[in-house]
Amino acid sequence: MIAVDALTVQYGELRAVDQVSFSVFEQEIFGIVGPNGAGKTSTVECIEGLRRAHSGKVSVSGLDPWKDRKKLYEVMGVQLQDTAYQDQVRVGEICALFSSLYRSPVPYGELLEIMQLSGKEKAFVSSLSGGQRQKLAIVLALIPNPRIAFLDELTTGLDPRARHQMWDLLLQLRERGLTIVLVSHYMDEVEAVCDRVAIMDRGRMPAVGSVSEVIGRFALHTEISFRSSLERTGGLEALPGVVSVGRKRNRITVQGRGDETVLAVLEHLRDRGIDYAALAVKPPDLEAVFLNLVGYSPSGESPRADEKEVR
Ligand SMILES: Nc1ncnc2c1ncn2[C@@H]1O[C@H](COP(=O)(O)OP(=O)(O)OP(=O)(O)O)[C@@H](O)[C@H]1O
Ligand SMILES: [Mg+2]
Repeated sequence: MIAVDALTVQYGELRAVDQVSFSVFEQEIFGIVGPNGAGKTSTVECIEGLRRAHSGKVSVSGLDPWKDRKKLYEVMGVQLQDTAYQDQVRVGEICALFSSLYRSPVPYGELLEIMQLSGKEKAFVSSLSGGQRQKLAIVLALIPNPRIAFLDELTTGLDPRARHQMWDLLLQLRERGLTIVLVSHYMDEVEAVCDRVAIMDRGRMPAVGSVSEVIGRFALHTEISFRSSLERTGGLEALPGVVSVGRKRNRITVQGRGDETVLAVLEHLRDRGIDYAALAVKPPDLEAVFLNLVGYSPSGESPRADEKEVR
């Protein structure tokens, strides 16, 4: 559905997107994640025909988004990261306006109902809450009954229930044939709905694949943690697959390679009669990939001042 080949976006001296290539298949939900300023929106804008690439090739459903923009807008729905409407317009009016622009729009009443905005048709856009505005932006993106939808930070500002409802909606839309490109900062969201995900970092795309393929590519560690009064952790460090052992207050965290380490730690605790509570095993997830990419260590190798006394 989408083919991107060596796409480069340049803003003056800054190369925001650097020779990025990937494809998106029909009827898949494709996620793009990465730190602020990585080049996600710039990439998506080129696919949407809103920005001209410096070099490289983009094709959407066989069309060149820059040259065939008019045709493309017949099949594409776009939710922009910062949508600015005229505030002194009512919800129903802007929906009617959008509907009038397309040949076979989805009846917007249905979309408003799904987004729980039915009661707001007469309300001014300026009077909506942040989350309601976000929902309205999604309604407007879906009005054209598109074959491809671009959603940039879809659920930012939505409450937890609304986020889950939105995920259900995306999966339903995919079943009905929609291809979706989703830019998100929520790793749980990407894990919940995306068939494949691309990681972007400083204009490049170091990994593309299913969530588990991408996680596997980074060779991250499984984390086993538990509360214990254990004084010396030497025994744990010597176990097979263990990479590091740390302690924060009375919680001990062991980092290691996969299931081998988990079993070894459990056996060690049992065999030595070591007391432990609140045991947790955390295999590497997309969040860990992200934090690793930006060089942040959540287990905090260096102890803060208030933790030193318990060491
Ligand atoms: N119109 C512009 N003119 C100049 N520089 C820009 C422009 N738009 C984006 N940039 C720069 O390009 C880089 C990539 O921006 P982009 O908006 O694509 O990032 P992003 O991955 O979408 O980030 P975020 O997660 O914060 O939305 C940033 O350094 C940004 O400052
Ligand atoms: Mg962005």
